[in-house]
Amino acid sequence: MAESKKAWGGRFSKPTSKQFEKFSESISFDARLYDADIRGSIAHATMLAECGLISKTDCSRIVRGLKAIRREIEAGTFEFREDREDIHMNVEAALVERSGDAGKKLHTARSRNDQVALDMRLWAIDEVAHVYGLLREAQAALVGLAEANVALIIPAYTHLQHAQPVLAAHSLLAYVEMFERDIGRLGNASCGMLVSPLGSGAVAGSGLPIDPDATARHLGLPEVAANSIDATGDRDFILEMAFALAMIAMHLSRWAEEWIIWSTEEFGFIELDDSVSTGSSMMPQKKNPDALELIRGKTARVYGNLVALLTLMKGLPPAYNRDLQEDKPPIFDSTDTVADSLAVAIEVIDSVRFRPDRIAQQLDRGHLDATSLADYLVLKGVPFREAHRLVGELVKDCLARDCRLGDLPLEAFQKRCGKICEDVYGFLGPENCVKRASGRASTSHRRVKAALRKWRKKLAG
Ligand code: ARG
Repeated sequence: MAESKKAWGGRFSKPTSKQFEKFSESISFDARLYDADIRGSIAHATMLAECGLISKTDCSRIVRGLKAIRREIEAGTFEFREDREDIHMNVEAALVERSGDAGKKLHTARSRNDQVALDMRLWAIDEVAHVYGLLREAQAALVGLAEANVALIIPAYTHLQHAQPVLAAHSLLAYVEMFERDIGRLGNASCGMLVSPLGSGAVAGSGLPIDPDATARHLGLPEVAANSIDATGDRDFILEMAFALAMIAMHLSRWAEEWIIWSTEEFGFIELDDSVSTGSSMMPQKKNPDALELIRGKTARVYGNLVALLTLMKGLPPAYNRDLQEDKPPIFDSTDTVADSLAVAIEVIDSVRFRPDRIAQQLDRGHLDATSLADYLVLKGVPFREAHRLVGELVKDCLARDCRLGDLPLEAFQKRCGKICEDVYGFLGPENCVKRASGRASTSHRRVKAALRKWRKKLAG
């Protein structure tokens, strides 16, 4: 078996096999932690100097070296080496090459176990902020579309069958609410990220006179981990993030599904922009909603990543185990996938066009005003169950005559129920239904306009 150059210091008499080195490296995917890693190391070195464990001169050498390494990485000139395994050892080895003995002191009172637990937290904090911003943008895009179509009425569906008329804006605002809760979930997930694990060392903490509170302060983290075994061994904050991301993907997927349906020839409620549609390699006439289908499809891997992470953790004895390195590909993938999906979703929303002519045809079908008619009967003193049955019979009358409820003459209504008068027509037709649905959470113009104003204000703030 070929052997690599890497040896683990004095304990080992043989270097790592090439095969195993390839198997165990993580630099190919954890290089993206470089900024978190360098920030963590700068804070750690600063604390070591403050505690008198390294000299001020060594600290400045370390900090200067780390900043130079960051510049090289960002310029693309840094050589990431597989034989240096991961981001931590790549940065540290490069630092030692640069600053000699000073660099060799950086790892005092630190293990890669608390180091990676910190890096993942710092990385996650930034990514959560990025996804948060995209969710806000998606909300703003939906609110903008709702405002531009503020009077448009569409059929609402339950069981994908015609149900009741609603404002298109009301339907769009439903997603704004979902994204708001997604934002809340991201916020909750970030609580576990705002804790500094530095000082926990490999598993037992440190016997050296360090000051973990100072390190946390330098990092801007409000808390220091209370238990070194827990701090190095758990990844619950990554799992919470993976769950919050899976929930966003689920909401996006339901939205995509609805708009795929809306964009069919059969519905024709929306026209997707050419810039987010694809053609067919064989059928020249086709315009396919691939952007939406991919958003729906990619949800599968975001779920898969969550399950992978849950499974990764379930059998691990405390504290750090190398299995934990496998937390990275799934959470990186979920983050990138959800961020990309949101960015594409924003483009789709910003460029879509409603087709009021096609929507109007559907508003006349499926007796969308039947519930409003039942409400009318209730207001006339008919018990709701009775009203429900009566309206069902009137719908049957309409089906026999192939007409809408509003097309029935007054006599036809009165044959079924003597309490119905001329004013019944004020409860029929999509406009009347929407106008009357004026309670909290309902779809009336007044309610929806107020909701739009509320969201505008919130999103501007
Ligand atoms: N690359 C490792 C990870 O991602 C870093 C920690 C390694 N620690 C260890 N004891 N081997 O988990």
